[in-house]
Amino acid sequence: MARRKKIYEGKAKTLFEGPEPGTIVQYFKDDATAFNAEKKDVIDGKGVLNNLLSEFFMNGLTQIGVPNHFLRRLNMREQLVRSCEIVPLEVIVRNFAAGSMSKRLGIEEGTQLPRPIVEYCYKDDALGDPLVTEEHIAAFGWASQQDMDDILSLALRVNDFLSGVMLAVGIRLVDFKIEIGRIYEGDFMRLIVADEISPDSCRLWDIETGQKLDKDVFRRDLGSLTDAYSEVARRLGVLPNNPPTSGKPTLVN
Ligand code: TMP
Repeated sequence: MARRKKIYEGKAKTLFEGPEPGTIVQYFKDDATAFNAEKKDVIDGKGVLNNLLSEFFMNGLTQIGVPNHFLRRLNMREQLVRSCEIVPLEVIVRNFAAGSMSKRLGIEEGTQLPRPIVEYCYKDDALGDPLVTEEHIAAFGWASQQDMDDILSLALRVNDFLSGVMLAVGIRLVDFKIEIGRIYEGDFMRLIVADEISPDSCRLWDIETGQKLDKDVFRRDLGSLTDAYSEVARRLGVLPNNPPTSGKPTLVN
């Protein structure tokens, strides 16, 4: 059997050459890592849940006109996306203090921020994705000033969309990370949302109880990650209301 060509293997996903030029198959693995892969595990069903949830969020973004790489889901673990050149930045939007911001600035986790705060980290595992400023980004040519205006606008639109979708199902969007890709259309370059949007890359807290429904459950050993992600998927209507007895996620169609 002909094997398709692997383009890249990351910590949570593998990318394969797509069936048409300009496309990529994004395969979601069950691997979970934290603290720059110092902590690792395989979480049964995580890849399936993230594939479905990322599809749900990217489709929603498409519906409100936020350009993104998603084309279509292929199966339970794979989706077809547009091939793009990833800007080497992790774009983080925070609505409430948590995680590294709480540590860095001594702000109690859960404190509401005066307005959404956008941060940039330089994507480099060997350096641990260090926080950088727009000065670094411009000086080292990772993105132009025009790119940064577009990236900020995309990040804030994603924040408004995700905050609203989550609020509607009783979940607070504390913060999230997105990645941005460049696509070339003739003489024009456009920036689009790429990579994934899933509980791996967001902080999601139940509004009533404060229960964590995101990767902090794994990072901080707070219980079952599959249960947390399934709860998010169930509330969003991506999974049926009664969880399957096998404990494995089931697709609704
Ligand atoms: P932080 O508080 O650890 O900087 O994380 C901010 C947000 O970014 C949080 O929603 C988790 C997400 N994130 C990633 O998606 N990948 C990463 O490697 C890290 C460190 C955080």
